[in-house]
Amino acid sequence: MRVLVSGGAGYIGSHTVLSLLSAGHDVVVVDDFSNSKPTVIGRLEALSGKRIPVHSLDLTDAEKTERVFAHEQVDAVIHFAGYKAVGESVIKPLEYYRNNLDSTFSLVNAMRAHGVTKFVFSSSATVYGEKAPVPYREDYEYLSSSSPYGQSKVMIERVLSDVAAVSEGWKVALLRYFNPVGAHASGEVGEDPQGVPNNLMPFVAQVAVGRRDHLTVHGADYPTADGTCERDYIHVMDLAEGHVAAVEHLDAMTEPARAYNLGTGTGTSVLELLHAFERAVGRELPYEIGPRRPGDLPAFWADATRANRELGWQATRSIDDMCADTWRWQSQNPQGFPDA
Ligand code: UD1
Repeated sequence: MRVLVSGGAGYIGSHTVLSLLSAGHDVVVVDDFSNSKPTVIGRLEALSGKRIPVHSLDLTDAEKTERVFAHEQVDAVIHFAGYKAVGESVIKPLEYYRNNLDSTFSLVNAMRAHGVTKFVFSSSATVYGEKAPVPYREDYEYLSSSSPYGQSKVMIERVLSDVAAVSEGWKVALLRYFNPVGAHASGEVGEDPQGVPNNLMPFVAQVAVGRRDHLTVHGADYPTADGTCERDYIHVMDLAEGHVAAVEHLDAMTEPARAYNLGTGTGTSVLELLHAFERAVGRELPYEIGPRRPGDLPAFWADATRANRELGWQATRSIDDMCADTWRWQSQNPQGFPDA
């Protein structure tokens, strides 16, 4: 297949490009580089030995988006592009709803105009809201999210399901990610957050490399084994392979749209992750216990049996693999991707 990857220069998008290419697919990347560096593309080309066509544009521009489909043959779309900072979304709700929804509308319209019917969407476990029983299962009906970022995922899942239901031949996979971490085993590609990282793993990695002086653990008084929050961390290469499995499965899907959890099915606490990272680095890392972060849930992880059964996919990489690969990337690229 020739797969258009929106947000293909970003963290999960770039790793998925590598997995698609090594599975024998072709890719077309669309990215506006608002939260990624163009130099990632050269790394992807060097690792894969293939030239990657790139269209640098903002997908909220419906005309420009349509023009990509007019010029490129596309069999399927994997849509990663979007704003994703939870805290920022609370402060700028309109920007988040507008950007995340409009870019999806542009893609869907261009696909309909050019007869493309296969869509894989980058959703999140945040759609399970605050009341879903753990482990999260895809058939939980009351999707909601406390942040505009998360609510944009809930809304887009609904838009795509409604469109697929009335569009001849459409197949949509809604992939609900748990906590993606890790990096490509080469250490050449990884997560490169701009500014202070919001998420745990990149923060720990920056402490290890000396860019931050210590980790603050956001709360150690949760009702969990060690008092810190538990999450289902999934290696980004397992996640990337989940996208390849999903895009290859679309034809066999019996429903127009279907959700799949992409997680490992096990929870790991903040302190367990920190200690695993210390093993990867070979030394202790400084941390302090701070207050809880508003909005954090104590513990959740995936029931990943649907993806396992229907997509024939399962996460295989361990927490130690996730830390070793993140450390290889971070230590080889302490400042992330170069500017040029
Ligand atoms: C967050 C988002 C989620 C989004 C996901 C994308 C929130 C509330 N949720 O998930 O919607 O889909 O990122 O990656 O922001 N922690 C620390 N110290 C730190 C950073 C994090 O102790 O400096 C803790 C957090 O309190 C949490 C755990 O580490 O318990 C994981 O945090 P994070 O990596 O931000 O992921 P989530 O909050 O699970």
